[in-house]
Amino acid sequence: MSTYQIPKLTLVGAGPGAEDLITLRGIKALQGADVVLYDALVNPTLLEHAKPEALKVYVGKRRQALRYTQEQINTLIVDLAFTHGHVVRLKGGDPHVFGRGNEELQYADSYNIDTEFIPGISSAIGVAGLAGIPVTQRGISESVWVVTGTTREGTLSDDVLQAARSNATVVILMGVHRLDEIVEIFKKEGKAGTAIAVIQNGSLPGEQYVLGTVDTIATLVAAKNMAAPAIMVVGEVVRQHSRFQLEQIAQAHLIY
Ligand SMILES: C[S@@+](CC[C@H](N)C(=O)[O-])C[C@H]1O[C@@H](n2cnc3c(N)ncnc32)[C@H](O)[C@@H]1O
Repeated sequence: MSTYQIPKLTLVGAGPGAEDLITLRGIKALQGADVVLYDALVNPTLLEHAKPEALKVYVGKRRQALRYTQEQINTLIVDLAFTHGHVVRLKGGDPHVFGRGNEELQYADSYNIDTEFIPGISSAIGVAGLAGIPVTQRGISESVWVVTGTTREGTLSDDVLQAARSNATVVILMGVHRLDEIVEIFKKEGKAGTAIAVIQNGSLPGEQYVLGTVDTIATLVAAKNMAAPAIMVVGEVVRQHSRFQLEQIAQAHLIY
């Protein structure tokens, strides 16, 4: 005889990758989960916090063979909440930063399923900080813009141009494959000499980064064969990185 489980959805931010960058509240939610649905950018070791009998379902969009659409994920959450009880939806970084997290909360809510949100450390801020770059600093940058390099239509967001025109630190997610386009935008705004960092796999063992200027960054990224997941940080705060000056001297001798 099966016991009735109260349906619930908890949307949890897993942080940027390292297993100890999730919140304590997030771990507690995992411990109480009957089902965990997790994404490609979630560290799989986090699943060990869930009960052995909890159902664990990978719904990431990176391994093409197992691709779920957003609509299928929404339906799965609702179905599993009614059949199994507490669904924890674990997403990389913070689910509300380019994570489509609210769509899942709203969908579950439309079925009168109880929902809870547990934020996570977004790669936009956390990966930069972990790499030694503060996204704002008194006297250097008064604001930070977090922009997507890839919109719903698959194009570069117009906001990149608006951001390039501002004095803000600009953090671009999902943009490394459009680096050339992004570089051109900043150059047109007279920012060829502005400092820029690209950080891949932040907080993970495979982390790598490059520090350059808008002018040099494409060469540096190509030399290290960098790809997603990576963030770009554009702005003078990048010069606060302890190796920035040293790297510029080294590059001046190696590249040019
Ligand atoms: C769909 S967005 C999700 C962002 C996530 N919600 C967050 O707050 O970090 C995925 C993008 O986040 C960035 N990203 C996520 N984790 C990262 C990491 N560990 N290192 C560098 N970039 C990362 C990359 O730009 C990646 O393409």
